[in-house]
Amino acid sequence: MTDKPATTTAPAAAPKGLQNVIVGQSKLSLVNGTEGKLIYAGYKIEDLAEYANFEEVIYLLWNLKLPNKSEWEGLRKALFDNMALSAETIALLKSFPPKATPMSVLRTAVSALALYDPKADVNTVEENKRKALLLTAKTPTIVAAWERIRNGKEPIAPRADYGLAANFLYMLKGTEPKQQEIAVMDAYLVLLSEHGMNASTFSARVTTSTLSDMYSAITTAIGTLKGAAHGGANEEAMNMFFEIGSADNVEKWFNDNVKNGDRRVMGMGHRVYKALDPRAAVLNRKAKEMSDATGNLKWYDLASKLDKTARADEEFIKKNLYANVDYYSAIALYTIGIPIDQFTPLFAIARIPGWSAHVLEQWENNRLIRPDVDYVGPMDLQWVPIEKR
Ligand code: ACO
Repeated sequence: MTDKPATTTAPAAAPKGLQNVIVGQSKLSLVNGTEGKLIYAGYKIEDLAEYANFEEVIYLLWNLKLPNKSEWEGLRKALFDNMALSAETIALLKSFPPKATPMSVLRTAVSALALYDPKADVNTVEENKRKALLLTAKTPTIVAAWERIRNGKEPIAPRADYGLAANFLYMLKGTEPKQQEIAVMDAYLVLLSEHGMNASTFSARVTTSTLSDMYSAITTAIGTLKGAAHGGANEEAMNMFFEIGSADNVEKWFNDNVKNGDRRVMGMGHRVYKALDPRAAVLNRKAKEMSDATGNLKWYDLASKLDKTARADEEFIKKNLYANVDYYSAIALYTIGIPIDQFTPLFAIARIPGWSAHVLEQWENNRLIRPDVDYVGPMDLQWVPIEKR
């Protein structure tokens, strides 16, 4: 065996975690981490969160322009027409063990939708747009149906007079959502629907680059979003708030676990944002408004105190660690009454328009994404028959 590993064909190793590596071009969104800015196809996220509903942003991501009234109505109707689940999908959900986690259920159910689509593997622009619509429409119904099925209740069909945000809340809870809840849900879905070359979007693009289909790409993305370093952080943030228990315990918890331990504050820090994530600023306000409306500020106050404690810490200042999108969204979603383990599936509902827009963009100018690795293992080992090992 020689000590020296083989040289690779790669000219230079990319930074760990592919940090700052530009892997292509996109017209979908700009994430400016230095200034804390986010733009979807030319529009500031603050404006979209304030004025747009989810359907307008879905249209924007798929068409790179905002819809006029009739285009918006057309999309809203097309989404509604695709929202109901087939008997097969409901039967599939009912066959899952009640303790199955919602993200695993969503990943499996989304993958299974392909089995009932005779054109699942037809990758034309027209078919891919149809699949993007179908996936965007059915995912909220799957998430809501699973919540009911695991609690021994029958799924609820969507209502034609509701948009996607209201329908999700209605199908989840079985009651008419309040206007403020719908508005916060719309803002959440808008804010989370697209975000540059994040890990799940990249994985969707990699899958697409092999000429695989839209269902496979979205299933891949859901599996990637699930991790606690990515979309799973919203659930982890809420569980952390529960663990802390009260605003009075914040400083002790921070000192014991973060300063003098190896824990991270979940919902803080970001690969790209080295300033405040603009989505976190909006969600901070929404979480406060929702908490004010319910008269229960306990969790908002705790989160706000932990945020201030962390931001006053010299390490957090030095490392530019701020609340990210998962931090205050946890409080907003909890206050609306979304079960904690449904936070990440809800993130997936929001992101399907963005993922599918990236899949469409990848198809426009595809080349197999296949990087290289620097082999650092042993060389020239001698073969030893199994009996002699
Ligand atoms: N709490 C405490 N310290 C942190 C945190 C945090 N939340 N995040 C990063 N740090 C520290 C790290 O310990 C590290 O310190 P060191 O240089 O002394 O070792 C430094 O900041 C850099 O951290 P990395 O993990 O190298 O940064 P990276 O860019 O790889 O990670 C990530 C970004 C995964 C988001 C990280 O900040 C994190 O784990 N945050 C908590 C989980 C989270 O909220 N994820 C959601 C991200 S947003 C999204 O995906 C939707």
